[in-house]
Amino acid sequence: MQTVVFALPGNENLATKLATRINASMGELTIRHFPDKETYIQIHSDVKGKRVIILCTLNNPDEKLLPLYFLSQTAKALGADCTCLVAPYLAYMRQDKQFKPGEGITSAYFAKFISNFADSLITIDPHLHRRHSMGEIYTVPCTVLHAAGLISTWIRDTIEKPVLIGPDSESEQWVEAVAKNAGAPFIVLEKIRHGDREVEVTVPHVEKYREHLPVLVDDIISTARTMIETIGHLKKAGMKPPVCIGIHGIFAGNAFEELKAAGVATIVTTNTIGHPTNKIEIADLIASAF
Ligand code: R5P
Repeated sequence: MQTVVFALPGNENLATKLATRINASMGELTIRHFPDKETYIQIHSDVKGKRVIILCTLNNPDEKLLPLYFLSQTAKALGADCTCLVAPYLAYMRQDKQFKPGEGITSAYFAKFISNFADSLITIDPHLHRRHSMGEIYTVPCTVLHAAGLISTWIRDTIEKPVLIGPDSESEQWVEAVAKNAGAPFIVLEKIRHGDREVEVTVPHVEKYREHLPVLVDDIISTARTMIETIGHLKKAGMKPPVCIGIHGIFAGNAFEELKAAGVATIVTTNTIGHPTNKIEIADLIASAF
């Protein structure tokens, strides 16, 4: 079956790389706003009987959802065989339980919304914490890809004598995998989150790694509080300024500037979300799902 890849605005670069790798054509479309801010959408490419891939990473998700929904519906109305959403970063995975009375479990509602218009979903390292599989909330087939191998390779090729540091027990499973493939030791810290921007981290004895280069690895860098708090403890323990690696670099507000100011050797992310820190390419990983 022929495949057409559409990019929502801002995703053109990765979409073009993906289309090239899987021998698909790039779809042409117009998305703009009417003067009253409603969304206008027009597909220019022929999609009849074809598989349509929509590439849209989902940081700042609220503003992307309606255009995404309209694009998928328009493709189907024009006879597309199926639509597959490729969301390298998948939003709304963290509010996965009711922490306070009256709160919405938005990860489940979001999953229901996406499952309503996309026939399948491909994503990279979604924040599965209290949920064990996407099938618990998504009703369409989901492919979950992992960036651990790419991160290990980057560390192995770039850093001499690293010690990997996971910020919390959730990260243990994949920090361990990254460390093993990179041939490096690792430590996992304890984290208590008191609020959106208040994080407390405890650092175990790290003295024996003073000669190593600390490499903090986390799935998401959002406010960067987790990394900043950890860096403070490493400094106190006499460790070198660390390399900070995030799979998904959201960098909410001034997070990037604040993280740089905290004293880091460098900040590295994958290009699941476009950012100047992108150093680890995920196009081949996504292409491997097709
Ligand atoms: C949380 O459990 C995640 O694994 C990350 O540690 C967290 O999302 C990082 O958020 P922030 O950058 O806001 O501290």
